[in-house]
Amino acid sequence: MIDLDPHHKDLEPTIFEISRKDRVGYQIPASDVPEIDLESSLGSMLHRGGIPPIPALSEPQVARHFTRLSQLNFCIDTGFYPLGSCTMKYNPKINDQMASDPDFSALHPMQDDADTQGALELMHSLQRYLCEYAGMDDFSLCSLAGAQGEFVGLLLIRAYLESRGETERNVILVPDSAHGTNPASAILAGFKTKEIPSDKRGLVDLAKLKEALNDQVAGLMMTNPNTLGLFEKDILEIAEAVHEAGGQLYYDGANLNAIAGVARPGDMGFDVVHINLHKTFSTPHGGGGPGGGPVGVKEHLIPFLPKPHVEKNSDGVYSLDQKNKDSIGAVSGFWGNFGILVRAYVYLRHHGLSGIRNNSEMAVLNANYLKALLQPEFPPAYPGTCMHEFVLNLKKADTGDQRAMGVAKRLLDYGVHAPTVYFPLVVPEAAMIEPTESETPETLRNFSSIMKRVREECVENPAIIEGAPWETPVRKLDEVTAARNPVLIETVG
Ligand SMILES: Cc1ncc(COP(=O)(O)O)c(C=O)c1O
Repeated sequence: MIDLDPHHKDLEPTIFEISRKDRVGYQIPASDVPEIDLESSLGSMLHRGGIPPIPALSEPQVARHFTRLSQLNFCIDTGFYPLGSCTMKYNPKINDQMASDPDFSALHPMQDDADTQGALELMHSLQRYLCEYAGMDDFSLCSLAGAQGEFVGLLLIRAYLESRGETERNVILVPDSAHGTNPASAILAGFKTKEIPSDKRGLVDLAKLKEALNDQVAGLMMTNPNTLGLFEKDILEIAEAVHEAGGQLYYDGANLNAIAGVARPGDMGFDVVHINLHKTFSTPHGGGGPGGGPVGVKEHLIPFLPKPHVEKNSDGVYSLDQKNKDSIGAVSGFWGNFGILVRAYVYLRHHGLSGIRNNSEMAVLNANYLKALLQPEFPPAYPGTCMHEFVLNLKKADTGDQRAMGVAKRLLDYGVHAPTVYFPLVVPEAAMIEPTESETPETLRNFSSIMKRVREECVENPAIIEGAPWETPVRKLDEVTAARNPVLIETVG
């Protein structure tokens, strides 16, 4: 039995497992086809011996169970979600409606290309749109997340270097502010990594980068703006230096929401990019999915793109090309997360280039407005104008003995989601705030007031911070145990 409701301790606790034998929430009409002996026609291996142990519930119980579960979760549709680096912006509902249209959702992955021309056209157009936004020559839609996009992009670099006989190039350079997935993907793709420090500006230290470049370097992975929310102003010089040394430049597109429609990674000199559709192009984030991490490349990497790739022939017929002999192969079941691709396509068509540009500009404006509101009490880790997000150093704020984790947990009691904390690692007691373009000035002012109130509580009432959160369905968890030994289900005796 799990008690998920802290407000009604005197009442019977909410029971999670509510199934009761023989209770049903459906009616199946009497069979109008002749019965057959399954055992003799299918063989005993496939013949089920009894009714499977599925929950037995009435329809209202099911409706209440899932509605209640949905209410336990904090989400962008219920509150402000400034989770830095995650771009938790509003997802227009039209995206979901279009993705649930049976003309899309009822397609079967094994259908012939001739039957799925509309879906293939959508994917082909999306490949072209992403090329336009990223400044690349071609795109693959196969990977299912940003991190998988990184892995795929690095396999492309590897295949390219191998095709040139440059197998000794086995080091990927990664800035110290990079997301943890960057070095992890490089290692998974068979490379070694070397860290490049940030300089006093919070940007890649150009001198240190140049020192690290040699004939073992396969490439450099970067985000721009970087994870401190700062634009890497030296990017053209960086690109030139990496290319001169024979390396490739990888763009982690997690921060594209700052520049989409304004500047393009391809024009900055990047050879490979991934785009997190579930960030910039407004498809929902889930717990580890569903997502989309399409990978874009410059011309020299096209031969290695994953299979299948959507092609259009001179008669205007679309097909899934499986023939590319130099391809790194399939990287996901079928061709990627189709429902997410539909959502991204609708979002892009709905906004158009000027709308996407406006969104990026508003995201940057909102971040700078919120930074300015917070600045008197919460100095940013780096001065100056930020892009779509900024990082506070809570060590510099007067929060008594309280740490970033305490502030983050207490914010939940005020009905807002916490910022990302303790990332990037280069900032002590980091709180990384990304308001996104979808928030109003009132929401930003409200958040700023809440932050200031929490700071006062840190000094005046530390116990309230230490015990927080008090108002959430589940109180403070031991996060290590919760991650390693999660209790997902408990049955009634
Ligand atoms: C900078 C950066 N790179 C890569 C990723 C990984 O993306 P995904 O979560 O889609 O795998 C993230 C995710 O938050 C990120 O913020």
